[in-house]
Amino acid sequence: MGLSPAVEIHDLEKSFRSGWPRRRVQPALRGVTFSVPRGVIFAILGPNGAGKTTLLSILATLLLPDRGSARVLGHDVVREPHRVRERVNMSSGNANFLWSLTPREILDIFARLAGVTGRVRRVRVEALLDLLELRGHAEVPYSELSTGLKQRLALAKALVNEPELLILDEPTVGLDPDVSVRIRAQIAALRRERGTTILLSTHYMREAEELADEIVFLRDGRILARGDADSLKRRIKVGDAVSLVLADPAAWERLRALPGVLACASRDGRVECVVDDARKRLPDLLRHLHEAGVEVHDLRVTEPDLEAVFLELAR
Ligand SMILES: Nc1ncnc2c1ncn2[C@@H]1O[C@H](COP(=O)(O)OP(=O)(O)OP(=O)(O)O)[C@@H](O)[C@H]1O
Ligand SMILES: [Mg+2]
Repeated sequence: MGLSPAVEIHDLEKSFRSGWPRRRVQPALRGVTFSVPRGVIFAILGPNGAGKTTLLSILATLLLPDRGSARVLGHDVVREPHRVRERVNMSSGNANFLWSLTPREILDIFARLAGVTGRVRRVRVEALLDLLELRGHAEVPYSELSTGLKQRLALAKALVNEPELLILDEPTVGLDPDVSVRIRAQIAALRRERGTTILLSTHYMREAEELADEIVFLRDGRILARGDADSLKRRIKVGDAVSLVLADPAAWERLRALPGVLACASRDGRVECVVDDARKRLPDLLRHLHEAGVEVHDLRVTEPDLEAVFLELAR
């Protein structure tokens, strides 16, 4: 028998009930289905209120679903939460720890709570301080740490039980770009060096594009699309932008009819075309202009990023 997937969820639903005297029902997940194979980095990308934290909290056994099923490493999150907790951990970019405790103390407490004892615990805490480059701050009270150090500590805390599945809720939220880059590198290294499966949520397209093998777009509690960054870009057909400066600007009319050219317009002295695939169409485009005797003074190609895909999907 092969290994079960890291995560298997089927038709997951969750609503929140709040308010008094008039009760409000706020749906957070409206039937979400997907699975995550072991050993991958999987990103849930979505705007505020999409349901990301709700979904991850159910998988980390912190919340119960209303309907549907969720299995983590082969165990049902409702029926076998303890089995799930032993092998999973979650870290939030918005984590908070007691202000007066130091990183070493915080890691020690969470390792104790995870049932790690004696010498193994001491060795593991020290290894985590090294892994996340916290050693120089091991004795500094939590309240005096910078946001980047707090985030690294939150990540270290989620590794105390050496989880097979690491769940990260917005691991780089609110960080400077250079600090984010380091945290992303540490996340990528965990998968590479330990084979840890990583399920992360983010609303940064760049983060999903850089880190993840697979991405799902979540909005209003529903999955709008799923795939790797390239296949999503291809499927949503946002196209590549080709921007040209031509000796004869009127020549742009001729380009419109070429195969693979989705749109073309002349703007501020430049000819702006959208083609389905620049690598495939550029040779034809240039040959056509050359044969027509139109000189090309400048040429720029920009590939769409996930942002364009996301805007397209959110329409
Ligand atoms: N404890 C709660 N009580 C009531 N409503 C809630 C609660 N938690 C979440 N919600 C609602 O459920 C929906 C999904 O929220 P969730 O926090 O999962 O979204 P998110 O994708 O994590 O958003 P963000 O990017 O802002 O973190 C939202 O409409 C939110 O208002
Ligand atoms: Mg959230």
